[in-house]
Amino acid sequence: MKDISMEKIVNLCKQYGFVFPGSEIYDGFANTWDFGPVGVELKNNIKRAWWKRFVQEDMNTYGVDAAILMNPRVWEASGHVASFSDPKMDCKKCKQRFRADNLIEEHSNGKVAAEAMSNEQMQDYINDNHIVCPNCGGFDWSEIKQFKLMFETSRGTVEGNKDAVYLRPETCQGEYVNFLNVQRTMRAKLPFAIAQIGKSFRNEITPGNFLFRTIEFEQMELQKFCKEQDSMVFYEDYKKRALEFIEDLGLSSDKLRYHDHDKLAHYAKAACDIQYKFPIGWEELNGIHHRGTWDLSRHGEFSGKKMEYQDPETNEKYIPNVIEYSIGADRLTLAILCEAYEEEQLENDTREVMHFHPAVAPYKAAILPLVKKYHKDKAEEVYQMFSKSFMTTYDETGSIGKRYRRQDVIGTPYCITIDDETLNNGTVTIRDRDTMKQITLSLNDAINYIKEKIEF
Ligand code: GAP
Repeated sequence: MKDISMEKIVNLCKQYGFVFPGSEIYDGFANTWDFGPVGVELKNNIKRAWWKRFVQEDMNTYGVDAAILMNPRVWEASGHVASFSDPKMDCKKCKQRFRADNLIEEHSNGKVAAEAMSNEQMQDYINDNHIVCPNCGGFDWSEIKQFKLMFETSRGTVEGNKDAVYLRPETCQGEYVNFLNVQRTMRAKLPFAIAQIGKSFRNEITPGNFLFRTIEFEQMELQKFCKEQDSMVFYEDYKKRALEFIEDLGLSSDKLRYHDHDKLAHYAKAACDIQYKFPIGWEELNGIHHRGTWDLSRHGEFSGKKMEYQDPETNEKYIPNVIEYSIGADRLTLAILCEAYEEEQLENDTREVMHFHPAVAPYKAAILPLVKKYHKDKAEEVYQMFSKSFMTTYDETGSIGKRYRRQDVIGTPYCITIDDETLNNGTVTIRDRDTMKQITLSLNDAINYIKEKIEF
Protein backbone atom coordinates (compact mmCIF):
# COMPACT_ATOMS: atom_id res chain seq x y z
CA MET A 1 0.00 0.00 0.00
CA LYS A 2 1.48 3.37 -1.05
CA ASP A 3 1.82 6.08 1.59
CA ILE A 4 -0.44 9.08 1.13
CA SER A 5 0.97 12.62 0.88
CA MET A 6 -0.22 15.34 3.26
CA GLU A 7 -1.51 17.38 0.33
CA LYS A 8 -3.62 14.47 -0.88
CA ILE A 9 -5.12 13.84 2.56
CA VAL A 10 -5.96 17.55 3.02
CA ASN A 11 -7.75 17.64 -0.35
CA LEU A 12 -9.57 14.38 0.24
CA CYS A 13 -10.72 15.54 3.68
CA LYS A 14 -12.09 18.74 2.20
CA GLN A 15 -13.76 17.03 -0.74
CA TYR A 16 -15.59 14.37 1.26
CA GLY A 17 -16.68 16.30 4.35
CA PHE A 18 -14.04 15.21 6.87
CA VAL A 19 -12.25 18.51 7.57
CA PHE A 20 -12.57 22.02 6.13
CA PRO A 21 -10.20 24.99 6.53
CA GLY A 22 -11.40 27.14 9.48
CA SER A 23 -13.45 30.27 8.56
CA GLU A 24 -12.97 29.39 4.90
CA ILE A 25 -15.34 31.99 3.41
CA TYR A 26 -13.14 34.67 5.02
CA ASP A 27 -10.07 33.18 3.32
CA GLY A 28 -9.50 30.98 6.33
CA PHE A 29 -7.75 31.51 9.66
CA ALA A 30 -4.28 30.01 9.65
CA ASN A 31 -3.95 26.61 11.26
CA THR A 32 -7.53 26.22 12.36
CA TRP A 33 -9.67 23.44 10.94
CA ASP A 34 -13.38 22.63 11.15
CA PHE A 35 -14.50 19.03 11.29
CA GLY A 36 -17.30 18.40 8.78
CA PRO A 37 -20.21 15.95 9.06
CA VAL A 38 -18.07 12.92 8.25
CA GLY A 39 -14.97 14.01 10.20
CA VAL A 40 -16.84 14.83 13.40
CA GLU A 41 -18.18 11.28 13.50
CA LEU A 42 -14.68 9.88 13.00
CA LYS A 43 -13.14 12.03 15.73
CA ASN A 44 -16.02 11.41 18.16
CA ASN A 45 -15.67 7.66 17.60
CA ILE A 46 -11.93 7.87 18.30
CA LYS A 47 -12.59 9.78 21.53
CA ARG A 48 -15.27 7.26 22.50
CA ALA A 49 -12.89 4.35 21.85
CA TRP A 50 -10.24 5.98 24.07
CA TRP A 51 -12.72 6.69 26.85
CA LYS A 52 -14.07 3.14 26.70
CA ARG A 53 -10.60 1.59 26.82
CA PHE A 54 -9.05 3.82 29.48
CA VAL A 55 -12.00 4.95 31.63
CA GLN A 56 -14.99 2.66 31.19
CA GLU A 57 -13.01 -0.58 31.22
CA ASP A 58 -10.68 0.50 34.00
CA MET A 59 -12.28 0.14 37.40
CA ASN A 60 -9.82 2.60 38.94
CA THR A 61 -10.03 5.47 36.47
CA TYR A 62 -12.44 8.37 36.96
CA GLY A 63 -13.40 10.93 34.32
CA VAL A 64 -13.68 14.69 34.79
CA ASP A 65 -14.54 17.62 32.55
CA ALA A 66 -12.73 20.60 34.03
CA ALA A 67 -13.12 24.25 33.03
CA ILE A 68 -10.90 25.55 30.22
CA LEU A 69 -10.40 28.85 32.06
CA MET A 70 -8.66 28.18 35.35
CA ASN A 71 -7.39 30.34 38.16
CA PRO A 72 -4.20 31.96 36.75
CA ARG A 73 -2.28 30.68 39.80
CA VAL A 74 -2.65 27.19 38.27
CA TRP A 75 -0.35 28.25 35.44
CA GLU A 76 2.12 29.81 37.84
CA ALA A 77 2.26 26.55 39.80
CA SER A 78 2.62 24.47 36.65
CA GLY A 79 5.51 26.63 35.44
CA HIS A 80 3.75 27.70 32.25
CA VAL A 81 3.68 31.44 33.08
CA ALA A 82 7.44 31.46 33.65
CA SER A 83 8.64 29.15 30.95
CA PHE A 84 6.08 27.91 28.44
CA SER A 85 7.65 29.65 25.48
CA ASP A 86 9.60 28.93 22.30
CA PRO A 87 12.77 30.65 21.06
CA LYS A 88 11.71 32.62 17.99
CA MET A 89 13.54 34.66 15.43
CA ASP A 90 12.26 36.71 12.51
CA CYS A 91 13.67 36.91 9.03
CA LYS A 92 14.01 40.67 8.53
CA LYS A 93 13.83 40.22 4.78
CA CYS A 94 10.54 38.29 4.32
CA LYS A 95 9.14 38.91 7.85
CA GLN A 96 8.49 35.21 8.47
CA ARG A 97 8.86 33.94 12.03
CA PHE A 98 10.69 30.68 12.87
CA ARG A 99 11.67 28.64 15.88
CA ALA A 100 15.43 28.85 16.25
CA ASP A 101 15.68 25.32 17.68
CA ASN A 102 13.74 23.91 14.70
CA LEU A 103 16.03 25.68 12.23
CA ILE A 104 19.06 24.12 13.88
CA GLU A 105 17.55 20.66 14.13
CA GLU A 106 16.46 20.70 10.48
CA HIS A 107 19.83 22.03 9.32
CA SER A 108 21.70 19.31 11.24
CA ASN A 109 19.22 16.55 10.27
CA GLY A 110 18.34 16.10 13.93
CA LYS A 111 21.98 15.54 14.96
CA VAL A 112 22.18 18.69 17.10
CA ALA A 113 19.80 18.78 20.11
CA ALA A 114 18.99 22.50 20.07
CA GLU A 115 16.53 22.20 22.97
CA ALA A 116 19.53 21.90 25.30
CA MET A 117 21.10 25.15 24.01
CA SER A 118 20.75 28.67 25.41
CA ASN A 119 19.49 31.43 23.10
CA GLU A 120 23.04 32.77 22.77
CA GLN A 121 24.37 29.33 21.80
CA MET A 122 21.63 28.97 19.19
CA GLN A 123 22.34 32.43 17.78
CA ASP A 124 26.05 31.56 17.48
CA TYR A 125 25.29 28.21 15.86
CA ILE A 126 23.00 29.82 13.27
CA ASN A 127 25.61 32.48 12.45
CA ASP A 128 28.57 30.06 12.37
CA ASN A 129 26.72 27.64 10.11
CA HIS A 130 25.17 30.38 7.96
CA ILE A 131 21.64 28.94 8.29
CA VAL A 132 19.46 30.86 5.84
CA CYS A 133 15.72 31.61 5.96
CA PRO A 134 13.84 28.52 4.65
CA ASN A 135 11.26 30.84 3.09
CA CYS A 136 13.30 33.43 1.14
CA GLY A 137 16.89 32.22 1.42
CA GLY A 138 17.93 35.48 3.13
CA PHE A 139 20.43 35.70 5.98
CA ASP A 140 19.23 38.68 7.99
CA TRP A 141 17.94 37.38 11.33
CA SER A 142 16.53 39.26 14.30
CA GLU A 143 17.76 38.47 17.79
CA ILE A 144 16.28 35.28 19.33
CA LYS A 145 13.48 36.07 21.78
CA GLN A 146 11.24 33.81 23.89
CA PHE A 147 7.69 33.75 22.51
CA LYS A 148 4.89 32.90 24.97
CA LEU A 149 2.76 29.96 23.93
CA MET A 150 -0.27 30.55 26.16
CA PHE A 151 -3.16 32.54 24.74
CA GLU A 152 -4.02 35.28 27.15
CA THR A 153 -7.41 36.88 27.60
CA SER A 154 -8.90 38.94 30.40
CA ARG A 155 -11.72 38.72 32.90
CA GLY A 156 -13.61 41.54 34.53
CA THR A 157 -16.09 44.19 33.45
CA VAL A 158 -14.32 47.39 34.52
CA GLU A 159 -11.84 48.69 31.94
CA GLY A 160 -8.40 49.03 33.49
CA ASN A 161 -9.30 46.56 36.20
CA LYS A 162 -9.17 43.27 34.35
CA ASP A 163 -7.33 40.14 35.36
CA ALA A 164 -5.30 38.17 32.86
CA VAL A 165 -6.57 34.65 32.35
CA TYR A 166 -5.25 31.97 30.02
CA LEU A 167 -6.77 29.48 27.64
CA ARG A 168 -5.40 26.20 28.98
CA PRO A 169 -2.44 24.87 26.98
CA GLU A 170 -2.98 21.31 28.33
CA THR A 171 -5.89 19.53 29.96
CA CYS A 172 -3.95 17.70 32.66
CA GLN A 173 -3.95 20.60 35.14
CA GLY A 174 -7.73 20.07 35.49
CA GLU A 175 -6.90 16.55 36.66
CA TYR A 176 -4.28 17.62 39.19
CA VAL A 177 -6.40 20.36 40.76
CA ASN A 178 -9.25 17.89 41.21
CA PHE A 179 -7.11 15.19 42.81
CA LEU A 180 -8.54 15.76 46.32
CA ASN A 181 -12.14 16.14 45.07
CA VAL A 182 -12.07 12.92 43.08
CA GLN A 183 -10.25 10.94 45.76
CA ARG A 184 -12.76 12.02 48.41
CA THR A 185 -16.02 11.74 46.44
CA MET A 186 -15.15 8.43 44.80
CA ARG A 187 -13.49 7.06 47.98
CA ALA A 188 -10.64 6.20 45.63
CA LYS A 189 -7.70 4.18 46.86
CA LEU A 190 -4.25 4.34 45.30
CA PRO A 191 -3.49 3.44 42.60
CA PHE A 192 -6.20 5.33 40.68
CA ALA A 193 -6.33 7.60 37.66
CA ILE A 194 -8.18 10.75 36.60
CA ALA A 195 -8.88 11.22 32.89
CA GLN A 196 -10.40 13.81 30.66
CA ILE A 197 -10.85 14.77 27.04
CA GLY A 198 -10.96 18.44 26.13
CA LYS A 199 -9.69 21.40 24.16
CA SER A 200 -6.26 22.91 24.61
CA PHE A 201 -4.82 26.02 22.99
CA ARG A 202 -1.25 26.94 22.10
CA ASN A 203 0.02 29.97 20.26
CA GLU A 204 2.49 27.82 18.33
CA ILE A 205 5.05 29.67 16.22
CA THR A 206 5.31 26.98 13.62
CA PRO A 207 1.94 25.36 13.46
CA GLY A 208 0.98 23.65 10.25
CA ASN A 209 0.95 20.27 8.62
CA PHE A 210 -2.83 20.08 8.74
CA LEU A 211 -4.17 18.51 11.96
CA PHE A 212 -0.71 17.60 13.19
CA ARG A 213 0.03 20.90 14.90
CA THR A 214 -2.74 23.44 15.35
CA ILE A 215 -3.36 26.31 17.70
CA GLU A 216 -6.56 24.71 19.04
CA PHE A 217 -6.75 20.95 19.55
CA GLU A 218 -8.21 18.25 21.75
CA GLN A 219 -6.21 16.18 24.18
CA MET A 220 -7.07 12.85 25.79
CA GLU A 221 -5.04 12.74 28.99
CA LEU A 222 -4.90 10.69 32.13
CA GLN A 223 -2.87 10.88 35.32
CA LYS A 224 -2.27 7.70 37.29
CA PHE A 225 -1.67 8.44 40.98
CA CYS A 226 0.36 5.76 42.70
CA LYS A 227 2.95 4.90 45.33
CA GLU A 228 6.53 5.65 44.39
CA GLN A 229 7.55 1.99 44.60
CA ASP A 230 4.86 1.01 42.05
CA SER A 231 5.41 3.92 39.70
CA MET A 232 7.82 2.36 37.17
CA VAL A 233 5.49 -0.63 36.79
CA PHE A 234 2.64 1.74 35.85
CA TYR A 235 4.94 3.71 33.55
CA GLU A 236 5.79 0.53 31.62
CA ASP A 237 2.16 -0.57 31.73
CA TYR A 238 0.92 2.67 30.11
CA LYS A 239 3.65 2.49 27.46
CA LYS A 240 2.33 -0.94 26.56
CA ARG A 241 -1.36 -0.04 26.77
CA ALA A 242 -0.92 3.15 24.75
CA LEU A 243 0.71 1.17 21.94
CA GLU A 244 -1.90 -1.59 22.05
CA PHE A 245 -4.70 0.98 21.82
CA ILE A 246 -3.44 2.59 18.63
CA GLU A 247 -2.58 -0.76 17.07
CA ASP A 248 -6.08 -2.01 17.87
CA LEU A 249 -7.44 1.06 16.09
CA GLY A 250 -5.58 -0.06 12.98
CA LEU A 251 -2.21 1.76 13.01
CA SER A 252 0.36 -0.72 11.70
CA SER A 253 3.21 -1.70 13.97
CA ASP A 254 5.86 -0.97 11.32
CA LYS A 255 4.79 2.69 11.42
CA LEU A 256 4.98 2.95 15.20
CA ARG A 257 7.99 3.14 17.49
CA TYR A 258 8.90 4.10 21.03
CA HIS A 259 11.15 7.10 21.46
CA ASP A 260 12.61 7.21 24.97
CA HIS A 261 13.76 10.67 26.02
CA ASP A 262 17.43 11.11 26.90
CA LYS A 263 16.96 14.57 28.32
CA LEU A 264 14.48 14.67 31.21
CA ALA A 265 12.87 17.52 33.13
CA HIS A 266 14.55 17.83 36.55
CA TYR A 267 11.57 16.23 38.33
CA ALA A 268 10.93 13.45 35.78
CA LYS A 269 12.08 9.88 36.27
CA ALA A 270 11.32 8.68 32.73
CA ALA A 271 9.61 9.91 29.56
CA CYS A 272 8.73 8.33 26.27
CA ASP A 273 6.83 9.24 23.11
CA ILE A 274 5.20 6.87 20.73
CA GLN A 275 6.01 8.10 17.25
CA TYR A 276 4.03 7.45 14.10
CA LYS A 277 5.37 7.63 10.57
CA PHE A 278 3.22 10.51 9.29
CA PRO A 279 3.55 11.74 5.67
CA ILE A 280 5.92 14.40 7.15
CA GLY A 281 8.12 11.72 8.77
CA TRP A 282 8.43 10.10 12.21
CA GLU A 283 6.69 12.39 14.72
CA GLU A 284 5.27 12.21 18.22
CA LEU A 285 1.77 10.82 18.44
CA ASN A 286 1.52 10.54 22.21
CA GLY A 287 3.58 10.83 25.37
CA ILE A 288 3.96 8.81 28.57
CA HIS A 289 5.71 10.67 31.37
CA HIS A 290 6.78 9.74 34.87
CA ARG A 291 6.27 13.07 36.64
CA GLY A 292 7.17 12.04 40.19
CA THR A 293 5.46 14.24 42.82
CA TRP A 294 6.17 17.49 40.95
CA ASP A 295 2.65 18.56 39.91
CA LEU A 296 0.85 17.79 43.16
CA SER A 297 3.70 19.31 45.21
CA ARG A 298 3.60 22.53 43.20
CA HIS A 299 -0.20 22.83 43.50
CA GLY A 300 0.15 22.17 47.22
CA GLU A 301 2.72 24.94 47.48
CA PHE A 302 0.76 27.51 45.46
CA SER A 303 -2.74 26.74 46.80
CA GLY A 304 -1.78 26.11 50.41
CA LYS A 305 -3.80 22.85 50.34
CA LYS A 306 -2.22 19.55 51.29
CA MET A 307 -2.26 17.47 48.10
CA GLU A 308 -1.72 14.29 50.07
CA TYR A 309 -3.12 10.83 50.26
CA GLN A 310 -3.64 9.06 53.56
CA ASP A 311 -2.92 5.36 53.32
CA PRO A 312 -5.99 3.65 54.89
CA GLU A 313 -3.87 0.78 56.24
CA THR A 314 -0.86 2.56 57.68
CA ASN A 315 -2.38 6.05 58.13
CA GLU A 316 0.79 7.37 56.54
CA LYS A 317 0.29 10.61 54.56
CA TYR A 318 2.24 11.29 51.40
CA ILE A 319 2.10 12.93 47.97
CA PRO A 320 1.53 10.26 45.32
CA ASN A 321 3.68 9.84 42.21
CA VAL A 322 2.09 10.54 38.84
CA ILE A 323 2.32 8.72 35.53
CA GLU A 324 0.84 10.77 32.71
CA TYR A 325 -0.44 9.39 29.41
CA SER A 326 -1.39 12.03 26.87
CA ILE A 327 -2.53 11.84 23.25
CA GLY A 328 -3.97 14.42 20.86
CA ALA A 329 -7.38 13.48 19.44
CA ASP A 330 -6.79 15.50 16.26
CA ARG A 331 -3.28 14.11 15.77
CA LEU A 332 -4.59 10.56 16.22
CA THR A 333 -7.42 11.30 13.77
CA LEU A 334 -4.78 12.41 11.24
CA ALA A 335 -2.76 9.22 11.77
CA ILE A 336 -5.88 7.10 11.32
CA LEU A 337 -6.84 8.96 8.13
CA CYS A 338 -3.33 8.47 6.68
CA GLU A 339 -3.22 4.80 7.64
CA ALA A 340 -6.71 3.96 6.38
CA TYR A 341 -6.33 5.42 2.90
CA GLU A 342 -5.76 3.15 -0.08
CA GLU A 343 -5.92 3.70 -3.80
CA GLU A 344 -6.73 0.14 -4.71
CA GLN A 345 -6.15 -1.34 -8.12
CA LEU A 346 -9.11 -3.54 -9.09
CA GLU A 347 -9.37 -5.76 -12.17
CA ASN A 348 -10.77 -3.06 -14.49
CA ASP A 349 -10.82 -0.06 -12.23
CA THR A 350 -9.28 1.69 -9.25
CA ARG A 351 -11.06 2.77 -6.12
CA GLU A 352 -10.20 5.09 -3.24
CA VAL A 353 -11.06 3.43 0.05
CA MET A 354 -10.67 4.24 3.72
CA HIS A 355 -10.10 1.01 5.66
CA PHE A 356 -11.18 2.43 9.03
CA HIS A 357 -11.74 0.02 11.90
CA PRO A 358 -15.58 -0.30 11.88
CA ALA A 359 -15.64 1.07 15.46
CA VAL A 360 -14.33 4.46 14.30
CA ALA A 361 -15.82 4.56 10.79
CA PRO A 362 -18.02 7.69 10.51
CA TYR A 363 -21.05 5.77 9.23
CA LYS A 364 -21.46 2.10 9.98
CA ALA A 365 -24.00 1.40 7.26
CA ALA A 366 -25.28 3.02 4.07
CA ILE A 367 -28.81 2.26 2.97
CA LEU A 368 -29.08 2.09 -0.83
CA PRO A 369 -32.44 1.51 -2.59
CA LEU A 370 -31.64 -0.47 -5.76
CA VAL A 371 -34.27 1.30 -7.87
CA LYS A 372 -35.47 4.56 -6.36
CA LYS A 373 -38.94 4.29 -7.88
CA TYR A 374 -39.67 0.90 -6.28
CA HIS A 375 -37.48 0.70 -3.21
CA LYS A 376 -37.28 4.22 -1.77
CA ASP A 377 -40.10 3.89 0.78
CA LYS A 378 -38.78 0.63 2.17
CA ALA A 379 -35.22 2.02 2.21
CA GLU A 380 -36.33 5.03 4.26
CA GLU A 381 -38.05 2.70 6.69
CA VAL A 382 -34.86 0.60 6.96
CA TYR A 383 -32.84 3.78 7.51
CA GLN A 384 -35.06 4.68 10.48
CA MET A 385 -34.65 1.17 11.85
CA PHE A 386 -30.83 1.01 11.51
CA SER A 387 -30.13 4.56 12.68
CA LYS A 388 -31.59 3.72 16.10
CA SER A 389 -28.59 1.44 16.65
CA PHE A 390 -25.68 3.25 14.93
CA MET A 391 -24.78 6.07 12.53
CA THR A 392 -26.35 5.27 9.19
CA THR A 393 -26.38 7.16 5.92
CA TYR A 394 -28.66 7.02 2.91
CA ASP A 395 -27.96 7.40 -0.81
CA GLU A 396 -30.42 6.99 -3.67
CA THR A 397 -28.61 8.76 -6.52
CA GLY A 398 -26.50 7.22 -9.28
CA SER A 399 -25.71 3.63 -10.14
CA ILE A 400 -25.17 1.18 -7.29
CA GLY A 401 -21.48 0.95 -8.29
CA LYS A 402 -21.01 4.71 -7.95
CA ARG A 403 -22.79 4.67 -4.62
CA TYR A 404 -20.45 1.93 -3.36
CA ARG A 405 -17.45 4.06 -4.37
CA ARG A 406 -18.84 7.08 -2.51
CA GLN A 407 -19.15 5.00 0.65
CA ASP A 408 -15.71 3.39 0.17
CA VAL A 409 -13.95 6.74 0.19
CA ILE A 410 -15.58 7.80 3.46
CA GLY A 411 -14.92 4.35 4.92
CA THR A 412 -18.48 3.04 5.45
CA PRO A 413 -17.89 -0.64 6.26
CA TYR A 414 -21.32 -1.97 5.22
CA CYS A 415 -23.58 -1.07 2.28
CA ILE A 416 -27.12 -2.39 2.55
CA THR A 417 -29.01 -2.79 -0.71
CA ILE A 418 -32.80 -2.63 -0.59
CA ASP A 419 -34.36 -4.55 -3.47
CA ASP A 420 -37.36 -6.75 -4.34
CA GLU A 421 -36.11 -9.41 -1.92
CA THR A 422 -36.43 -6.86 0.88
CA LEU A 423 -40.03 -6.10 -0.15
CA ASN A 424 -40.97 -9.78 -0.54
CA ASN A 425 -38.87 -11.61 2.09
CA GLY A 426 -37.55 -8.91 4.40
CA THR A 427 -33.91 -9.70 3.52
CA VAL A 428 -31.09 -7.36 2.50
CA THR A 429 -27.69 -7.81 0.92
CA ILE A 430 -24.75 -6.52 2.93
CA ARG A 431 -21.67 -5.57 0.97
CA ASP A 432 -18.38 -5.54 2.89
CA ARG A 433 -16.19 -2.49 2.15
CA ASP A 434 -12.85 -4.32 2.35
CA THR A 435 -13.60 -7.66 0.66
CA MET A 436 -16.43 -6.29 -1.54
CA LYS A 437 -18.21 -9.62 -0.92
CA GLN A 438 -21.94 -9.75 -0.28
CA ILE A 439 -24.08 -11.78 2.10
CA THR A 440 -27.86 -11.90 2.55
CA LEU A 441 -29.50 -11.53 5.96
CA SER A 442 -32.86 -10.65 7.47
CA LEU A 443 -33.16 -7.02 8.64
CA ASN A 444 -32.80 -7.86 12.33
CA ASP A 445 -29.86 -10.18 11.71
CA ALA A 446 -28.22 -7.46 9.62
CA ILE A 447 -28.44 -5.00 12.53
CA ASN A 448 -26.99 -7.55 14.95
CA TYR A 449 -24.26 -8.48 12.48
CA ILE A 450 -23.14 -4.84 12.20
CA LYS A 451 -23.44 -4.26 15.95
CA GLU A 452 -21.04 -7.12 16.53
CA LYS A 453 -18.55 -5.86 13.95
CA ILE A 454 -18.40 -2.32 15.36
CA GLU A 455 -17.51 -3.47 18.87
CA PHE A 456 -14.15 -2.18 20.09
N1 GAP B 1 0.14 17.33 29.53
C1 GAP B 1 1.23 16.90 28.71
C2 GAP B 1 1.23 17.49 27.39
O1 GAP B 1 0.43 18.35 27.06
P1 GAP B 1 2.45 17.43 25.09
O2 GAP B 1 3.50 16.49 24.57
O3 GAP B 1 2.72 18.87 24.98
O4 GAP B 1 2.20 16.99 26.58
C3 GAP B 1 0.50 15.82 24.44
O5 GAP B 1 1.07 17.10 24.37
C4 GAP B 1 -0.08 15.42 23.09
O6 GAP B 1 -1.00 16.43 22.65
C5 GAP B 1 0.95 15.29 21.97
O7 GAP B 1 1.57 14.03 21.98
C6 GAP B 1 0.08 15.50 20.74
O8 GAP B 1 -0.59 14.30 20.40
C7 GAP B 1 -0.94 16.53 21.22
N2 GAP B 1 -0.56 17.90 20.82
C8 GAP B 1 0.30 18.72 21.47
N3 GAP B 1 0.40 19.91 20.85
C9 GAP B 1 -0.42 19.85 19.78
C10 GAP B 1 -0.78 20.77 18.74
N4 GAP B 1 -0.28 21.99 18.68
N5 GAP B 1 -1.66 20.38 17.79
C11 GAP B 1 -2.20 19.12 17.83
N6 GAP B 1 -1.92 18.21 18.80
C12 GAP B 1 -1.04 18.56 19.76
